[in-house]
Amino acid sequence: MSKKKKTLRTAAGQPWADNNHSLTAGKRGPVLMQDYQLIEKLAHFDRERIPERVVHAKGAGAQGVFVLTHDMSKYTKADIFNGKKGKKTPMMARFSEVAGEAGYPDTVRDVRGFALKFYTRDGNYDIVGNNTPVFFINDPLKFPDFIHSQKRDPQTHLRSQDMQWDFWSHSPESCHQVTYLMGDRGLPASYRNMNGYGSHTFKWVNKDGQVYWVKYHFHTQQGVKNMSAATAAKIAGEDTDYFIKDLYDAIAHKNYPTWKVYVQIIPYEAGMHYKHDIFDVTKVVSKKDYPLHEVGYFTLNKNPDNYFDDVEEAAFSPANLVPGVEASPDKLLQGRLFAYKDAERYRLGVNFENLPVNRPHNVKHPANYEQDGFMAEHQGHQVNYEPNGENGPVEDHAAKIKPYDVSGKADSYDTYAPDYYSAAGALYRLYPKAEQDRLIETLKSTLGTVKSHTTKVLETRQFYHADHEYGERVAKALGLDMSEIKGK
Ligand code: HEM
Repeated sequence: MSKKKKTLRTAAGQPWADNNHSLTAGKRGPVLMQDYQLIEKLAHFDRERIPERVVHAKGAGAQGVFVLTHDMSKYTKADIFNGKKGKKTPMMARFSEVAGEAGYPDTVRDVRGFALKFYTRDGNYDIVGNNTPVFFINDPLKFPDFIHSQKRDPQTHLRSQDMQWDFWSHSPESCHQVTYLMGDRGLPASYRNMNGYGSHTFKWVNKDGQVYWVKYHFHTQQGVKNMSAATAAKIAGEDTDYFIKDLYDAIAHKNYPTWKVYVQIIPYEAGMHYKHDIFDVTKVVSKKDYPLHEVGYFTLNKNPDNYFDDVEEAAFSPANLVPGVEASPDKLLQGRLFAYKDAERYRLGVNFENLPVNRPHNVKHPANYEQDGFMAEHQGHQVNYEPNGENGPVEDHAAKIKPYDVSGKADSYDTYAPDYYSAAGALYRLYPKAEQDRLIETLKSTLGTVKSHTTKVLETRQFYHADHEYGERVAKALGLDMSEIKGK
């Protein structure tokens, strides 16, 4: 017995008689203006695209669950990290590449985004990190310039080794992250096979008001795996969506990927006097000094029902913090607190937080006095000003941030200078010999193709400052004279 099919309706709910033949004035006549269904269909189609993310445009996402294994209430009052072993919080993740557009091949050398959204009982908590523990720059003023150098040349519309190396060679703080990116981790085998990092130092506050600095680490339980440059290039030519497919297929086959969640915990005063500035996101805090503490794990176990609804419309922001987690004075983080929601208001519209994927699970709208704007919905009947005598929502003083001291003169400080290189040198020395060899090969095939001799010299000089052997090997691979590298 065949099921009765749903009938076609217009967006306004009217029955739709013909979805194949336009209304014409006679058999050979022009199409009629009266064909409102044709006009609506074309008009809606014409508006299907929204702006892609200005960075991290290409990505894959899934839903899952975070499970707490260790009560962290000694360090933070954040509900998600407080309670009994086994406490669950729903979440979603989106992994991405940074520089390519939405259709770019997945397997090109790039940092990968590692964005997590936890739907906690205190609202949404986002950790918007990468698959590397550090970043190229540490001041938000430099971010648009950095990204311009990664994206397309305004004249040729081509991506350019000249532009990116020009920027990096004049930004010595990038040396550590460049050494990561040009190493094996610049080409992960899949999104499932990479670790994630919150990268910045964040502030945890417990119920007694004590402050700890923390750094997040997410360890893949699938094992860290990378691919060779030759394999990556081959796949890029055959399957541009290799990573999206890999994640989707694994979840579809119930092979759910899992990451363990760890934090480094740094007591407040010790953090303020650490051997380098812990708010400089171009550096790591040694695990020998502050070892990893296990917090829990998360598992991705549900593919999107609809990619656009569940992944493209997902809006992450480092400003999505919950009581118990606060921003640190890391300047790059401070800049990010503004940029994401601003980008999302532009990309998705002012009411983007009402979209199902972004809607907090703990709040029934409306819960504040913001109103209207494009695509407002479910506003209901509620007083729209405060103070009021109408039983509108009131402040929750328990959510106040922990007050902190600031001092000094307002100025444009070069806060994190001058140690740009020691961390890059330590990373180079950490690489096994074979990885060092691949790193030099990669630098030869990227930096080596740059037109400007000065760029090559400046960049190689950075590597030399990081580690003499590192610089000497790059110079040799690029055919540069060491007297120029040692120059200044
Ligand atoms: C001042 C520095 C930075 C600025 C201004 C910035 C800005 C942005 C903007 C505007 C977006 C697009 C947001 C959207 O349309 O939804 C974005 C996406 C993203 N950024 Fe940043 N970013 C910065 C640094 C960083 C750093 C340091 C990390 C990692 C540690 C990072 C990780 C990400 C990730 C993972 C995404 C993609 C989120 C998603 O999957 O939707 N960004 N960034």
